[in-house]
Amino acid sequence: MTNTRFLNACRRLPVDATPVWFMRQAGRYMPEYMALRQKHSLLELCRNPELATTVTMQPVNRIDVDAAILFSDLLLPLEPMGLPFDFIKGEGPQIETPIRTTADIDRLKTFEPRESLSHVLAAIRLIQRELDGRIPLIGFAGAPFTLASYAIEGGHSNNFALTKSLMYGHPDAWHRLCGLFASIVGDYLVAQIEAGVDVVQVFDSWVGALSPADYREFVLPHTQAIFARVGGRVPTIHFGTGTSTFLPELREAGGDVIGADWRIPLDDAWDLIGHDRGIQGNLDPTLLLGPTERLLAGADDILRRAGGRPGHIFNLGHGILPMTSLEQVQRLAEHVHTQSRVTVSA
Ligand code: CP3
Repeated sequence: MTNTRFLNACRRLPVDATPVWFMRQAGRYMPEYMALRQKHSLLELCRNPELATTVTMQPVNRIDVDAAILFSDLLLPLEPMGLPFDFIKGEGPQIETPIRTTADIDRLKTFEPRESLSHVLAAIRLIQRELDGRIPLIGFAGAPFTLASYAIEGGHSNNFALTKSLMYGHPDAWHRLCGLFASIVGDYLVAQIEAGVDVVQVFDSWVGALSPADYREFVLPHTQAIFARVGGRVPTIHFGTGTSTFLPELREAGGDVIGADWRIPLDDAWDLIGHDRGIQGNLDPTLLLGPTERLLAGADDILRRAGGRPGHIFNLGHGILPMTSLEQVQRLAEHVHTQSRVTVSA
């Protein structure tokens, strides 16, 4: 591997500069992505290994990132489980027949990712050939709460009312559902690792909707099972948003690196997580929409709070927004590298 910054940071080893990558670094803010989307739907991009490779490489060729992330979507396992869905323009994902009863949960199927999601594994092999050891490749999957929320709500939700009412009203069925997600996601991540990803990230994007006690009771054991299944084969990242009040629980569930969003200063988050784990994230993605000086000052504040300690990965607290300018993203990546060379070697 030519650039080992990101892998070294995952392992809390010293680096020459702070590694940077961006969640949703491939996507609608890039003109070349939009050009491909004129011709292909999002699901076509995800299901065709050549197209998924092209999209994965788009940000790598334009931005000074230290890792690539597989172009795919966290909802792909839903279809082979018996929950077909589509992406509706302007609205996001829509599950055809969402889970509403415990009988719906009993009808769900498990599947072999090497068969039903073989196109994702083929994409990983192609991307690794294309990357040719320049930077590491991140694989990923959704965590049980976030997957359950889409399966139950049928799409995005603001209050997760249906999800929580099933969780509180039918705890046994909830645990069956999350246990199934955990076993499928664990197998899927192992298959991605066998296909060649260097690191895996588990996305629990919406778990911040829970209280710390509910997280512990309804989610933690299932997410823990996923990290246990990966079992140290490659470094792992555990991402969530809105989790400032239960970062220690997130850490307990697993992950060599824990994600933190912008609602908590990075040093406070790291204290809560513990310095025997890495930390990733923290910059508010909307800062990319504002003046460059404010954006770079936000990055400087994060670097100062990280203090050059090993185990810091620079990222946003959530994904890049579609209206972001590519130039701002390029500037931010360059700035983090330039500034951290000073901090890290100081
Ligand atoms: O560059 C990367 O980060 C890799 C690509 C990636 C996508 N989805 C492609 C995508 C990743 C890591 C995901 C994960 C994902 N998918 C998450 C977790 C990350 C997060 O943002 O919290 C979630 C919640 C999903 C489900 C999903 N997919 C939603 C809610 C939406 C619609 C909302 C939106 O942003 O429009 C998607 C669509 C989606 N997945 C896009 C991309 C690039 C939008 C692009 C398009 O319509 O062309």
